Amino acid sequence: MNSMQLNIKNVAPFATKEQIDALDSAAAAGLEKLEKGTGAGNDFLGWLHLPSSVDEALIADIENTARTLREDCEYVVAIGIGGSYLGAKAVISALTDSFADLKPATGARVVFAGQNIGEDYTNELVALLKGKKFGIIVISKSGTTTEPAIAFRILKEMLEKQEGKDYAAKHIVAVTDAARGALRKLATEEGYATYVIPDNVGGRFSVLTPVGLLPIAVAGLDIRALLAGAKAMEEATAKACDCNLSYLYAKTRNALYKQGKKIEILVNYNPKLHFLAEWWKQLYGESEGKDNLGIFPAAVDNSTDLHSMGQWIQEGERSIFETVISVAKQQTEVVIPTDEANLDGLNYIAGKRIDEVNKMAELGTVLAHVDGGVPNIHITLPELSERCLGEIIYFFEKACGISGYILDVNPFNQPGVEAYKKNMFALLNKPGYEEESKAIQEKLK
Ligand code: PA5
Repeated sequence: MNSMQLNIKNVAPFATKEQIDALDSAAAAGLEKLEKGTGAGNDFLGWLHLPSSVDEALIADIENTARTLREDCEYVVAIGIGGSYLGAKAVISALTDSFADLKPATGARVVFAGQNIGEDYTNELVALLKGKKFGIIVISKSGTTTEPAIAFRILKEMLEKQEGKDYAAKHIVAVTDAARGALRKLATEEGYATYVIPDNVGGRFSVLTPVGLLPIAVAGLDIRALLAGAKAMEEATAKACDCNLSYLYAKTRNALYKQGKKIEILVNYNPKLHFLAEWWKQLYGESEGKDNLGIFPAAVDNSTDLHSMGQWIQEGERSIFETVISVAKQQTEVVIPTDEANLDGLNYIAGKRIDEVNKMAELGTVLAHVDGGVPNIHITLPELSERCLGEIIYFFEKACGISGYILDVNPFNQPGVEAYKKNMFALLNKPGYEEESKAIQEKLK
């Protein structure tokens, strides 16, 4: 089986092998903290051995629920935000037809809500769902997050009015904590089918739990292959050695950070990977950005963004490095035709596949960026498939844990996320926030 590869040869001019290897003991200690559960945040390590401890009954149950939703509904709305949204969005975007929404459907279409508080977005979604058979997967570990709670209140009421309470109860599935939170209480009272987000799996590490697996299965994708890819990577990242790609990536990016490269840009040359980068940004941003530390995770979609961000990357402040995800094999072929008149001057690439041109754009860019002072870590995915997505998801998760420990932060908490919520609740006069409301009104005078 062809697996993903990692190449760090274009890091050498900026962080030497000695500088990278100087982090061997920190990386090994980080890996040991994960495996032995002795590091900060060790009550959130449930993701670590998820792929190798898959519960067959749970997977079959998720597949059954997904089948029913796919068959009964024209649309399934996956409601959630952050870790309760990005993993499913990433996998579905990577593996489905870019124009699926404009082509005849082969099953329910998965649409997303609760990942923003856009009024027009909500209204447009409500208009889309009007008169249509739809179902809802509402996902929230805490069961109290404002954005998904608002979307769910609106869409639940709409579904009940449109189809009746019985139908709604049979076509709403809640994914939440086993016991805590408003969503668990509501689901119990309304009699919804539910799935549990394990206590020891944090939101951004939850894509391989029902949080990600259910919407991904509803989209018609093979969750067993996704888990098999993750399992292969779990096995391949167990030991402290450079053959462990997560270990190598973690120490390389930290060596670059120590050399002043404070921003990591995840670069793709395949538009289907846009949301994988969004998922990755959350994973690394929330895990490492604390205690006034952490590499800033950014992303570009090339070659699109070479025409917008390319200038900055080539010649802006030299505080960046890139991690490129290259997809070796495309699913289909398009050959550039010959044109006798050649008025556009393109005959020099006639007969070539579009992917050959894309690969040369990628190679040319990597060389230019390295020449321009941008270190380059290179990941090759054999193809976009469930298995490869499973591999890269687990690879990044494991590397994130090791990397956070190298940095000496707790990779599994996110205390900073509460600051905006506290202000928002104070501004909205949420019961229990009376003191904060007074203080914030004073501040605004
Ligand atoms: O990674 C995290 O913990 C967060 O991004 C959460 O996933 C996000 O805030 C949503 O939380 P919840 O699932 O509790 O609604």
